[in-house]
Amino acid sequence: MKTLIAAIAGLALWAGAADAQNYPTRAIKLVVPFAAGGPTDVVARIVGNNMSKTLGQQIVIENIVGAGGTTGITQASQAGPDGYTLMMGHMGTHGAAPALYPNLKYDPTKDFEPVGMAAGTPILIVASKATPANDLKEFMVYAKANNQKLNQAHAGVGSVSHTTGQMLNVQLGIKPALVPFSGTGPALNDLVAGQIDFMCDQIVNLVPQILAGTIKAYAIATPERSPALPNVPTTKEAGLPDYQVSAWNAIFAPKGTPKEIVAKVNDALSKALSDEGTRKRLLDLGGVLPSDAERTPQWLAGFVATEVDRWNKVIKAAN
Ligand code: MLT
Repeated sequence: MKTLIAAIAGLALWAGAADAQNYPTRAIKLVVPFAAGGPTDVVARIVGNNMSKTLGQQIVIENIVGAGGTTGITQASQAGPDGYTLMMGHMGTHGAAPALYPNLKYDPTKDFEPVGMAAGTPILIVASKATPANDLKEFMVYAKANNQKLNQAHAGVGSVSHTTGQMLNVQLGIKPALVPFSGTGPALNDLVAGQIDFMCDQIVNLVPQILAGTIKAYAIATPERSPALPNVPTTKEAGLPDYQVSAWNAIFAPKGTPKEIVAKVNDALSKALSDEGTRKRLLDLGGVLPSDAERTPQWLAGFVATEVDRWNKVIKAAN
């Protein structure tokens, strides 16, 4: 009997190794936990498009929205660890979420196989054209004078737009009406239409509208201006030096995904980040590309642990 069990176990291991060796043999689902058209979706589609060429199988984006991205990540984390369900997480879902969702059904530091960093995404303070303020200094005066009359968009509690928006509100001492969306793609439509007064959002979502002049960009919350938006001042130049924050988007697989499969997906992501066309698309949208050292699964695992710790402190301090 023991021999039979050992044989079956051996067969299962051999089959698993064969699967990893032949992976991928069919299309791969990449879960984006926010609405189509937003920053997470844009980064996923840009890198996914090139990754499918390396992997030889379609990467199919599936938008699963809700709860600041934690709905989609929870579902994806529970998928079979076979490499056919991946997910695009970020500074919200894999950084701030544990401090904001006491019953979160996953631990960003334990329940995933980190695959690799996709792009850094600096944060901008943007407003509708109807907002009378023409620069950040004027906006700070206007926002304080019209405090609770303003409305601010975000993509759900714990999303990047929510946490970075709250950071701004605390620094300005304002309490705008918070308007949730399934992603900052839809939120941006309402900002352009003037239904939303302002928001804090990731650069890769905003560059086309800023260049088209359909919204106001008051500042970028990074030490240096973005090459994609040379005319947008930094928060330091614009009078709010303490508002410094950048987000990031990274690919994860469910815990238990074989390391050979993680390595294949990581290799495809790294090739995408070295592909001239893919790099250009991300850089033109203001994306910040990871260095070679920042592209490994091990680096991402360590980074996620520091992000969860950092956001836990930020959120506890702001209670
Ligand atoms: C967010 O965290 O605000 C999301 O990234 C927005 C989005 O991707 O739609």
